[in-house]
Amino acid sequence: MPKSLIIANWKCNPSTLAQAKALFAKINQGVARQKKSKIVVCPPPVFLGFFTQKPGKIFLGAQDAFWQEGPFTGESSFNMLKSIGCKYAIVGHSERRKRGESDKEVNNKIKAALSVGIAPVLCVGETFTERENQKTPIVLRKQIQEGLTGVAKGRVGEVIIAYEPVWAIGTGNPCRPEEAMSMKIFIKKFLSQNYGKNISSKTKVLYGGSAKAANAGEYVIEAGMDGLLVGGASLKAKEFLEILKKI
Ligand code: PGA
Repeated sequence: MPKSLIIANWKCNPSTLAQAKALFAKINQGVARQKKSKIVVCPPPVFLGFFTQKPGKIFLGAQDAFWQEGPFTGESSFNMLKSIGCKYAIVGHSERRKRGESDKEVNNKIKAALSVGIAPVLCVGETFTERENQKTPIVLRKQIQEGLTGVAKGRVGEVIIAYEPVWAIGTGNPCRPEEAMSMKIFIKKFLSQNYGKNISSKTKVLYGGSAKAANAGEYVIEAGMDGLLVGGASLKAKEFLEILKKI
């Protein structure tokens, strides 16, 4: 049985380096003996470089990165991330898409991540209105298709897809596990039709959106999601470690 992939997305938290180090240390200590999951922590970019030493069981991930280097004030490149030991990068999170990130930019980032050997975590998901208007399949198809444009077929399976319904993120109103499962099936079918069965079965599909200890088992064990992308609940070490125990 492959390990579940559990990714902690700290977003723009916590406020200080001391708090970030304390949170990381508690998680690191807590995961020392667990074997069922692969754990990735994505701290804010300014703290990333502090966690490169002996990460132990925790893999380091970025919340975003830029696809080029040079005169791009404020950005960090995938190469830079790689040089400090980052193995994963979230790409196209809805909180970035909401502020203008396009599918084209997401696509550039995915290609740049793959080119240096960082596994991109492509976030896809519909808004509440899109859902109400039965637009979910159209939205997902577009985000995946455009996100993967130009990616060599043989490498598509390295892209991790996180189904994150926008209306469920940070709301405490998670998507029903059956619904997440049907989205995973939809995504796999789409990949199978476009890239072949092999790629489809290789691709991990995670769930994200108000995931916590109380529902983690429903997504991973019952609904068969390949893992979770956890925001709010990853900021409390106890709750995050509890998630790992439930799956
Ligand atoms: P949440 O965030 O767990 O706080 O809903 C998930 C995410 O945005 O990845």
